[in-house]
Amino acid sequence: MLKAGIIGLGRIGAEPSTRLAGQVPNGWLPISHIEALLATENIELKHISDVNLERVKWVSDYYNLSAKEHPDPNTLLKEQPDILTIATRTPERYDLIMQALDNNIKAIVVEKPLANSLKRTSEIIEKVVGNDCILGYGAARRAMGIYQQAKEILNSGEMGELKSITAEFGYTKLLWTLPHAVDLFLFFAGSSEVEYISGHCDLEEGQLIAPNNFDGDPLVETATIKFKNGVIGNILPCGGWNIRLGCTKGFITIHGDGDYIELNYSGKYNAYFTSSKRIENNFKESGICNIYSSISKSLGSNVHFSLITPAEIEMNQNILFGIFQSSLEGGKRLSVSSLNANLYISGRTGNLYA
Ligand SMILES: NC(=O)c1ccc[n+]([C@@H]2O[C@H](COP(=O)([O-])OP(=O)(O)OC[C@H]3O[C@@H](n4cnc5c(N)ncnc54)[C@H](O)[C@@H]3O)[C@@H](O)[C@H]2O)c1
Repeated sequence: MLKAGIIGLGRIGAEPSTRLAGQVPNGWLPISHIEALLATENIELKHISDVNLERVKWVSDYYNLSAKEHPDPNTLLKEQPDILTIATRTPERYDLIMQALDNNIKAIVVEKPLANSLKRTSEIIEKVVGNDCILGYGAARRAMGIYQQAKEILNSGEMGELKSITAEFGYTKLLWTLPHAVDLFLFFAGSSEVEYISGHCDLEEGQLIAPNNFDGDPLVETATIKFKNGVIGNILPCGGWNIRLGCTKGFITIHGDGDYIELNYSGKYNAYFTSSKRIENNFKESGICNIYSSISKSLGSNVHFSLITPAEIEMNQNILFGIFQSSLEGGKRLSVSSLNANLYISGRTGNLYA
């Protein structure tokens, strides 16, 4: 049995999924890390931690846990669980991740975004790679059956060659929402090599408190990422939580956060993609559960953890910070090598942080 620990028992850490029953497509529930840890074979939840002691007690009672309770996350880290989840908000997550790596924990699942600057990002990734640590990430859609099915259709070539990926995730925040959209760009693009990043954000007066310090979570109007293989990703201020894969012979759209896939292709007309086919989502396992079952299969075996790589998580961060930096520079196209590693984005909205 693998011993697991979790730090951060808030909404994504431990809030019961019952509140979302019937409101999200297949593949979403259970959504919290604790539910996924409890549901995964070969994993035993041994340690839970939150600085809010009342929350620790509530979680322990609600889930009827026998796990050791740690109001101080440091005492949990010293226990060196086989798998550690860190589901606090981002600013405090950096120190916890670095300490977990110092404690040589071999599999860590962290929430998105990875960190508040590219400097912190590269420090984490360097250590993860150096320690040969498995790094799971809270961008769970790529671990859902329906997104994986869309990728199989794309890779089959039946819709032709991929040219563009459009994310319709609303008029939304860079660090709160868009790590998910960018993760899907990386998942579908077939490349993590980026030619340029450009973005336009709607920033409020006074949020840039110093040249390298933005105290807020930038609202993104539009963003474009061109990959070196020619695929172009676009973030549009349009709602619906759809991902549209524009191919030479048609579109593959994952609608409504994975509710169903729609294929559009030519039929009646050669040049227009007016014929369509709908594929329902019949996948039962949740994305977050799939992350833990993949880790459970990989830890201590020769099975490589391939759901996501540290390089993809780092490139996700590069793209997010590039969108913001580009906006500060008037929408200029930026290469990854021209990004400012010291730019800090707090991710604050009101008194909460992404
Ligand atoms: N993957 C997703 O779909 C998804 C959804 C929601 C939130 N998130 C991300 O997850 C993170 C957490 O979001 P949330 O909505 O669950 O936040 P939350 O505020 O509900 O929970 C955070 C918890 O961490 C605890 N905490 C803070 N500092 C701590 C420390 N040093 N040690 C131990 N516990 C500590 C807090 O007391 C709180 O209970 C955010 O970064 C957010 O962006 C991801």
